[in-house]
Amino acid sequence: MDRFHISGPTPLVGRVCASGAKNAALPALAASLLTDEPVTLYRVPRVRDLRTMRRLLDYLGVGSEEREAAEPPESPKPPESPESRPETALVLQRARPSSSSDAPYELVKTMRASVLVLGPLLARFGFARVSLPGGCAIGVRPIDQHLKGLAALGADVRLAGGYVETRASRLAGARFRFDLPTVTGTENLLLAACLARGTTVLENCAREPEVADLARLLNAMGARISGAGGDTVVVDGVDGLGGAAHRVIPDRIEGGTYLIGAAITGGDVLLEQAVAADLAPLLDKLAEVGVEIEVSAAGIRARARGGDGSLRARDVATAPHPGFPTDLQAQYMALMTRATGTSTIRETVFENRFQHAPELARMGARVHVDGGSARVDGPTELTGAAVMATDLRASACLVLAGVAAAGTTVVDRIYHLDRGYEGMELKLQGLGAHVARMAESMAT
Ligand code: UD1
Repeated sequence: MDRFHISGPTPLVGRVCASGAKNAALPALAASLLTDEPVTLYRVPRVRDLRTMRRLLDYLGVGSEEREAAEPPESPKPPESPESRPETALVLQRARPSSSSDAPYELVKTMRASVLVLGPLLARFGFARVSLPGGCAIGVRPIDQHLKGLAALGADVRLAGGYVETRASRLAGARFRFDLPTVTGTENLLLAACLARGTTVLENCAREPEVADLARLLNAMGARISGAGGDTVVVDGVDGLGGAAHRVIPDRIEGGTYLIGAAITGGDVLLEQAVAADLAPLLDKLAEVGVEIEVSAAGIRARARGGDGSLRARDVATAPHPGFPTDLQAQYMALMTRATGTSTIRETVFENRFQHAPELARMGARVHVDGGSARVDGPTELTGAAVMATDLRASACLVLAGVAAAGTTVVDRIYHLDRGYEGMELKLQGLGAHVARMAESMAT
């Protein structure tokens, strides 16, 4: 288990580029199950969740390999910069007929998003058996909406021995309204409905940019989806899908983490190639807090003055997109420890998503959690401490706090961070932070 050793405080200054969005790349990989032709994806982040998905797809008969990129069909290539590596493409192609439509517990348990193979396997092969995702550190996270939606398209859905078994000779288009917006639930239904007979109308869909990105890929493969990214999505089923090439959108959560990093350290960061509209809820909040935000063709620049009194405490409540993302809540809490005044942070998407709070307290933060709300009293001079990462975004919060804190912070269990942040220590070093990864043998 690797650790980060961080010496602070250091203002983050410079330019940084987000990798491709983990949460857009995962369903894009799952889409490769829907065709025998190659699906070529650009800007797939090199993070552990993507390696897990590749292993699962390999098990299901779809091979994947990284190749030097040919020119992608859309959106300009990233500008050449001394640090930029040659771009690679991830090419996925069915290597053998599906010997199994079965996603076993051993592969599914480490990543909840494995459930994204359920829709495409069912639509393509008429049968899918997927282990129920294991318990998750940030709440119960059921998949009832995925299952209700597939049942509405005519699937027979059963739960047996910790597995979901679904069957349908061919799915049939239908109208389905989600009880609540779910990101992977909406994606699973899109993946399934594009091969259904007839038209599917999905209501109360998740409006996250990652859903729209998946629809762009599926349409490039020959699907007929309209309205993705909005509340109602219409899918006209087709008989088959072909290959396509697609560039995954930049990771707004990763990018947002570096912008918050600029704010908490009194720094000045330009986030290159960012989509400002996708980050609007964070940018609005940072401006309220007193961070100077500038959006230009070059990217999004966040500048903070540093020193006590320059940041104002502001309340936030997480909500589905276009609300404030739950995936930035932990990082925002770290920021609020440095802001003047009292802020209330309400988590409305997941229960039990404040596990970073006691760890921040070890660094001197004054945080009081009461159910789904946390009150933060600031400003606090954070001081380095040994802390433990408990989940992906909590890790990012602790790393940012460590860069802002005086002294040495050791963040343990960095494997959580590696699920979703590509080379975070390298990007932070590029911004001037003193962060080093210690492998377990070196750290003990
Ligand atoms: C996705 C993101 C995750 C992000 C989350 C919310 C991926 C791979 N992960 O997770 O990073 O934190 O969106 O933005 O894209 N729910 C149900 N029944 C269901 C499905 C969900 O009750 O069938 C509930 C969940 O418990 C949660 C809420 O709906 O309270 C939203 O969850 P959902 O949007 O499904 O999250 P994920 O897709 O798992």
